[in-house]
Amino acid sequence: MNRNPHVAVIGATGAVGVEMIKTLEKRNFPVGKLTLLASARSAGKKLKYRGQEIAIKELTKDSFTGIDIALFSAGGSTSKEFAPIAAKAGCVVVDNSSAFRMDNSVPLVVPEINRADVKWHKGIIANPNCTTAITLMALYPLHQAFGVKRIFASSYQAVSGTGAKAIEELERQVGEVVAGKPVTKEVYPHQIAFNVLPHVDSFLPSGYTKEEMKMENEGRKIMHHPSFRASVTCVRVPVYRAHSVAVSAEFEKPVTVEAARVVLSKAPGLDVVDDPEKKEYPLPLYVAEKYNCQVGRIRVDCALDNGLCFWVVGDQLLKGAALNAVQIAEELLK
Ligand code: A2P
Repeated sequence: MNRNPHVAVIGATGAVGVEMIKTLEKRNFPVGKLTLLASARSAGKKLKYRGQEIAIKELTKDSFTGIDIALFSAGGSTSKEFAPIAAKAGCVVVDNSSAFRMDNSVPLVVPEINRADVKWHKGIIANPNCTTAITLMALYPLHQAFGVKRIFASSYQAVSGTGAKAIEELERQVGEVVAGKPVTKEVYPHQIAFNVLPHVDSFLPSGYTKEEMKMENEGRKIMHHPSFRASVTCVRVPVYRAHSVAVSAEFEKPVTVEAARVVLSKAPGLDVVDDPEKKEYPLPLYVAEKYNCQVGRIRVDCALDNGLCFWVVGDQLLKGAALNAVQIAEELLK
């Protein structure tokens, strides 16, 4: 790999794409050249990178000549169509969509957990589901110490996970409700302002949603733990940014709060914020825009054997997407 790679961001105008550009800059990624790609709608629009204005180009099958690393975040269908073209042209693709995550020939990587998997890529590396990545940041170190068998979890997912249009929808609906006007809906099937929706992604015949099953499926692949089980309810909440997850985890070995806290306080990319007496626990409002995830409300589960409850919060645009993608790109340069 070129030490100063030519990097492309595909979906540069999107909620994640914008964060990818910022993260490359903030982490001083040694970008030789930056190419920004989006749909024809955005062609010619300019975005800033290191004080320079870069014009966005329309994504076409000829976009990848000379590009070393392509960070994709333009939706599953764009990835399905263009990531194989990019890989064929010699790029390494880091794909934020779900298109290739469960493909056996594609590594699925959270660098703090399975950075070695980057090595066996064949041109495409998948970035995990945001809620899964955030949950595993706390669960994996506990798994290493106590051996996780299964979890029961509920997520509280921010609207920015749906994309830039959903942020606008929440803002618009809050204005409409406060002004006493009828609420208009474009993105979500129900009003999201002053409401919570137990519906993220599409429903499966089992009654779970696709998003809910990502925790078990992607969790098994990332942790190299084929018997891991996860029963999850994913909920969209009227929060701009950062996902929260309430987890009850059952382990093979006995677990105490003290032992768990020792493990979690040493975990990379994770801060323990857990002092209920002082009303200190992770809050999405304050985790937004932070690289590290936060864990708190650590307590022994009263309904499981060898069980532990915790509350983990992470910026899903960063650890759940852009930061994790740039960290994977950093691994490629090592
Ligand atoms: P555009 O702004 O030109 O539509 P979000 O998840 O925030 O909605 O962002 C989606 C991103 O994916 C945007 O940058 C969007 O570009 C881009 N995108 C969507 N469809 C395509 C496509 N067919 N080709 C290239 N980029 C696309």
